[in-house]
Amino acid sequence: MLQIRLPVNARPTEGQLFAAPESAENVKRFRVYRWDPDGGANPRIDTYEIDLNDCGPMVLDAVIKIKNEIDSTLTFRRSCREGICGSCAMNIDGTNTLACTKPISEVKGDVVINPLPHLPVVKDLVPDLNHFYAQYASVKPWLSSDEEPAAGRERLQSPEEREKLDGLYECILCACCSTSCPSYWWNGDRYLGPATLLQAYRWLADSRDDRTDERLDQLDDAFKLYRCHTILNCTATCPKGLNPGKAIAETKKLLLSRKRS
Ligand code: SF4
Ligand code: SF4
Ligand code: FES
Repeated sequence: MLQIRLPVNARPTEGQLFAAPESAENVKRFRVYRWDPDGGANPRIDTYEIDLNDCGPMVLDAVIKIKNEIDSTLTFRRSCREGICGSCAMNIDGTNTLACTKPISEVKGDVVINPLPHLPVVKDLVPDLNHFYAQYASVKPWLSSDEEPAAGRERLQSPEEREKLDGLYECILCACCSTSCPSYWWNGDRYLGPATLLQAYRWLADSRDDRTDERLDQLDDAFKLYRCHTILNCTATCPKGLNPGKAIAETKKLLLSRKRS
């Protein structure tokens, strides 16, 4: 039977309020999802009041401030703080994005922070990405060619060939797109999802790679590729401005032209 509500033991309860000091002049509330796998309790939403006059401009600055100064038990991933590593992806104000590039000033009212949706939670804001990475590995995301480059030379591309990789190589595998995709929510066990499919197309589009047929054979599957219904949540949410929906459409076009030839 279709279950629309969260199971009873997954519904967040109201957690603690960490009030700002009385001297705070510019207070913003951050409502943060918390779940401890060892406690056995339901998830909860803790509220942290932060003085923005004493905090950096991005949501990640506030999350780090909470961890460093208010509540060291808050768990999240981050590394580069520059929108490059993809590890601080979370759902902020209802949208999957990178906490380090999301300005607090863009959020009206309380800043509501949840882990990326539709993934098992390891703890607090840390989702389990093992399956996501296994799917990425399954498309063999590396250059594969029978031809050796001329001794001592790199594999050359014309500027036009290189240009075909623009909009693809910039993907940082943050998983914002895949976890915003309704098809991936319901069929993520078999549907590869927009991030992995964009990465798969990145190698199909690379003039130096010889494995086009083999790669297309692997993708030509009712679930792996064709569960995409062009809803384009993926493209709307990508914090790097990429277009996984287009990469998926280009892959379908390659399969169609191969069938016709
Ligand atoms: S396409 Fe965009 S949203 Fe998806 S994983 Fe890559 S960078 Fe993240
Ligand atoms: S376009 Fe395809 S991959 Fe992107 S959100 Fe829609 S169904 Fe998912
Ligand atoms: S910390 Fe690396 S992308 Fe945000």
